[in-house]
Amino acid sequence: MRTIAIGQLGLGNVGAGTVALLRDNRAAIESRLHAKVVVRKILVRDRERTRDVTVNPSLLTTRADDILGDPEIDVVVELIGGIEPARTYILQALTAGKHVVTANKALLAEHGAEIFALAAARGLSVYFEGSVAGGIPIIRSLREGLASDRIEAITGIVNGTSNYILDAMTRTGATYADALKDAQAAGFAEADPTLDVGGGDAAHKLALLALVSFGVRVDPAEIVTEGITGISPLDIETAAELGYVVKSLAIARRTEAGLCLRVHPTLVPRTHVLAGVEGSYNACLVQSRALGRSLYYGRGAGMLPTGVAVVSDIIEVCRNIAAGTSSPPVPDAGIVEGTPLPLDNLVSENYLCLHVPNQPGMLGKCAACLGKHGVSIKRMIQNAPLGRHPVPMVIFTEPVEEHKIAAAIREMTTFEILGGMPIGRIRVLDLGDTP
Ligand code: HSE
Repeated sequence: MRTIAIGQLGLGNVGAGTVALLRDNRAAIESRLHAKVVVRKILVRDRERTRDVTVNPSLLTTRADDILGDPEIDVVVELIGGIEPARTYILQALTAGKHVVTANKALLAEHGAEIFALAAARGLSVYFEGSVAGGIPIIRSLREGLASDRIEAITGIVNGTSNYILDAMTRTGATYADALKDAQAAGFAEADPTLDVGGGDAAHKLALLALVSFGVRVDPAEIVTEGITGISPLDIETAAELGYVVKSLAIARRTEAGLCLRVHPTLVPRTHVLAGVEGSYNACLVQSRALGRSLYYGRGAGMLPTGVAVVSDIIEVCRNIAAGTSSPPVPDAGIVEGTPLPLDNLVSENYLCLHVPNQPGMLGKCAACLGKHGVSIKRMIQNAPLGRHPVPMVIFTEPVEEHKIAAAIREMTTFEILGGMPIGRIRVLDLGDTP
């Protein structure tokens, strides 16, 4: 039986899951592949550290060259994360004729062009299922399961940390800060959660989804990205009273004018399928022309869930090696560079929350400003205990173009009556436009 040798870069959480699955499922993998898959070396920073998986110490090395320079290694599995040295290692691996499996969304979203170009030039594959929505086989579903269809839109909950925090705020009434602390204590949020709660992680994943679904490469920095740090218990409570839950959504949609990509908190009707995605789970709702809606749901992070995606990629690469073929997830032809549409003409209903003095004329002043900018009010709520200052004033708008609501918010922000308090704003999921 043929042996295919793996070199693994990194033995953290996902690295340990990968090693455990390759070991525990060895017999099944061998019978599927008619080949043995053997981990030959694992790059670690510290050989003495205690790990989540038992590994023969002779496999561990602190020298990347023991893997990248080993001609016996066929596949390099990059699980160290971050941009450098991951980028350099992957380029070296491809240059040395090795296929690559990675779960590194930031690297591929920002430097995918050079990595995929080098892979294509060398006839090698770069697989990256673990980089988007952890264990959910969304990349494989988009490129294989829906290869016969035309994908029109994807609406995803692709950051488990943000979903965990918003879900905890919804269930317990906690503040954002307390829910974040809880998420960190439970191991769902990083010590520095900026990339997750700021929406950057979801934007990286959205860029990869757009690449696979639409063949368009975008700079993730050009995706309109809003995090969840400004969401208050009042927002969550008012949304709930009106039948909505707050979710951080990553949305990609083809339009006649171009590709609309955005990451932001969104009010989702409680009856919508994405409203039921709880805790750190992820889900992608895909709209394709012939199939219609299809939903992909599961664990978006963690040692074994992401390990499943990584090992499935390893199996696919090994299958290609054994068959002498190559079928890279990102083809070397047909990819175009793209710029996401500005949101100016996006039409959505909006939730606004202003804090104003409890005195006559406040609603009139705000309503007049909205009216001046062409924003029509659908509903207004003020539950103000007598004598309390300032009081929250919640306004729902009718569907309106982004540039109009943005202009109104800009003007209202200058109102002295707000006393510098920020204006809360959450877009409402458009069921007509979004799957
Ligand atoms: N930090 C990510 C999340 C998981 O919270 O979803 C890895 O992509």
